[in-house]
Amino acid sequence: MTTASGRDGRLDRAAVLAWLRQDDPAALETLWAEADAVRHAHVGDAVHLRGLVEVSNHCVRQCTYCGIRAGNRNLARYRMTADEVLDCARRIADLGYGTIVMQAGEDFGLTGPWVADLVARIKATTPLAVTLSLGERLPDELRAWRQAGADRYLLRFETSDKALFDRIHPPRHGQSVPRWDLLGLLRDLGYEVGSGVMVGIPGQTWDSLADDVMRFAGMDLDMIGVGPYIPHPDTPLAAVHGDGPDQVPADATTACKVVALARLVRPDANIPATTALGTIDRAHGRELGLRRGANILMPNVTPDRYKACYEIYPDKAALGD
Ligand code: 5AD
Repeated sequence: MTTASGRDGRLDRAAVLAWLRQDDPAALETLWAEADAVRHAHVGDAVHLRGLVEVSNHCVRQCTYCGIRAGNRNLARYRMTADEVLDCARRIADLGYGTIVMQAGEDFGLTGPWVADLVARIKATTPLAVTLSLGERLPDELRAWRQAGADRYLLRFETSDKALFDRIHPPRHGQSVPRWDLLGLLRDLGYEVGSGVMVGIPGQTWDSLADDVMRFAGMDLDMIGVGPYIPHPDTPLAAVHGDGPDQVPADATTACKVVALARLVRPDANIPATTALGTIDRAHGRELGLRRGANILMPNVTPDRYKACYEIYPDKAALGD
């Protein structure tokens, strides 16, 4: 193969699968080069900066991989005040970044009206675009936040393998809407929609990862976030070890393959070099991401007194310092 996408310039599922399984470094150079060229041609050479504010680490969910899951008692919980978030927003604007990303666990203590009011205040007092990443919230809340001025919403689908998804996401009691339906709703509400996956979840197969990449295109995603799975010792999934020939490894190279393929199937998307990639390969992870298809960095501007408590996985790399 001389080009990553084959002669007719299209990347079908078989080609995606072949690239995912490719482990010859010389052959992979073709993939990296093509992803870099497509990135250059479609979104240019600017690296866009988004300021990440981890607003709350309270969470009602029990996702078996995540360090801020409700069941983790070894964690001090915090919820920022609106004024604290506004201070961060001003700092992000002063730094010259274009976007604030407000992320939190699924925390209904961040009430619908509270978030709507905060979004409106940020939009009224800064030039920032507002991205929300607050989990599976209710349709009425998502609608109200959009009306308040929120521009974008991030909700990773994590894996398109339904059995695997259900295993690692125990259901929440009460009202909830399936994640796929929420992603469609977000699009209908006029949000720019971001989604993505973890790479190397125990039980994740190459085939399902190929399906994930095909979904990126099928869903017309505006943003695609991809990072390696990193075991957190205080979670149930840390005791589960994926093995066998079909198990996807949770390493930087495999995550980069998914970043590069995401760029090829969605040339115009905004794709971050994620913190998880920078954590698993501290020296080079984020730079590799940027050279293999990514065009976004998300420096963490969460106040230091809270940062350490937002431990979705251990030893998170701190960009922004
Ligand atoms: N390792 C890697 N990524 C994780 N995330 C959550 N927990 C982990 C982990 N242990 C990712 C999920 C989530 C995003 C905010 O962080 O993909 O959507």
